[in-house]
Amino acid sequence: MLAHRLIERKRDGGRIDPGEWRALALAYAKGHVPDYQMAALLMACFLRGLDRSETAALTEAMLQSGERLELGHIGKARIDKHSTGGVGDKVSLVLAPLIASLGVAVPMMSGRSLGHTGGTLDKLESIPGFRTNLSLAEAAAQIEKLGCAMIGQSPEIAPADKKMYALRDATATVESIPLIAASIMSKKLAEDLTGLVLDMKRGSGAFIPELDRVLELADVMIKLGEDHGCPCVALVTAMDRPLGRACGNALEVEEAVAALKGEGPPDLMSVTYALGAEMLVLAGAAADVDVARREMEKSIGTGRAAECFQRIIEAQGGNPGVVEDPAVLPQAAECELFAAPRRGFVARIEPKRIGRAIIELGGGRTKVEDVTDPTVGFVITARPGDWVDAGEPLATIFARDRSGIATGRNGLRAAITIADEAEPPLPLISHRVTSAGAALFSNE
Ligand code: URA
Repeated sequence: MLAHRLIERKRDGGRIDPGEWRALALAYAKGHVPDYQMAALLMACFLRGLDRSETAALTEAMLQSGERLELGHIGKARIDKHSTGGVGDKVSLVLAPLIASLGVAVPMMSGRSLGHTGGTLDKLESIPGFRTNLSLAEAAAQIEKLGCAMIGQSPEIAPADKKMYALRDATATVESIPLIAASIMSKKLAEDLTGLVLDMKRGSGAFIPELDRVLELADVMIKLGEDHGCPCVALVTAMDRPLGRACGNALEVEEAVAALKGEGPPDLMSVTYALGAEMLVLAGAAADVDVARREMEKSIGTGRAAECFQRIIEAQGGNPGVVEDPAVLPQAAECELFAAPRRGFVARIEPKRIGRAIIELGGGRTKVEDVTDPTVGFVITARPGDWVDAGEPLATIFARDRSGIATGRNGLRAAITIADEAEPPLPLISHRVTSAGAALFSNE
């Protein structure tokens, strides 16, 4: 009866109060509210929206539906980074060990690939033996010992969100700012953080492409964090082209390992350092972003960051040899260069098309239960704005077989536009958002 009343009220533009959200989230997590009623309510929320206090109440209700990591006793700042997702975004693989190597605890809880966007868990699981399904107790013990655990949303964390997100995915109700903000923040707040840095992607390959909506989402998430005593800072970064060169699970691990050894592509390093600097400043481990950047460069230069990754991999059952020798990673059976079909400027490299091509190659997911092939994908060496001659190599395709190579070739043809004029790409990092509002990002 409760669900029916709430659906009716939301449908007619009314509000749901905190006690009702709490009762509903708990009842849904326990299976006492059927999916058809929750789906109707979510659609009413999607169409009517939630005000600030309803969004906070939904976040709290989903958080309370499960358990939390308990990390207060470790006596360290605890900072995570969340990205709204994209193609080639392997920043978490670099940042988690890098920041942990500088004495800040990083309880990193990540997701799987879905649709055109990649997922940190799938990337990590391409390392032979790597386990992402640690229990909360195992994760807490590892964070205390090594300063970092890289895990998935365990069944105990925000179970109401887990069910609702899957239902939203099946009922076209994902793209709602309050529902996204509540869903992400209910999981992040369960990590017992002392601060959170958000990487808000914008552009054609982002979950929400438009800058104004990205800034609105950042504002809602930051306020939800602050309400829970978790200060948040967001950077708005470009997803109108893939980040870095590698796109595909094992290929991205290889690029992340190179980045931890100081050999990462410049755009990946810029985003990693900018987000990492915010994490270190929020943690109180660096006085400002310049000091933070020097500390990160030192950790990479001395090999400490790469060693920290090795220890995390070993602790989670993976083969730590991957840091010395990426050949430990599963390898694609076939690879082939992809050449420029004509001379001109690389005008666009469309991330959505790259992501979809990876799904066609078997490396991504359209449904939560799909199994992904870690070996397939692309290494795209061309960047938007480059001048290229006909026949010049732009990328390498990695596939299971020859028909996969043909699929990859078609994907790259659709994704990469060569034109007579260059098109200016979005600024790599355009805005910094705090509870005081959004400002243009400055590298100075
Ligand atoms: N990621 C989440 O975890 N939840 C959403 O609603 C959207 C993206």
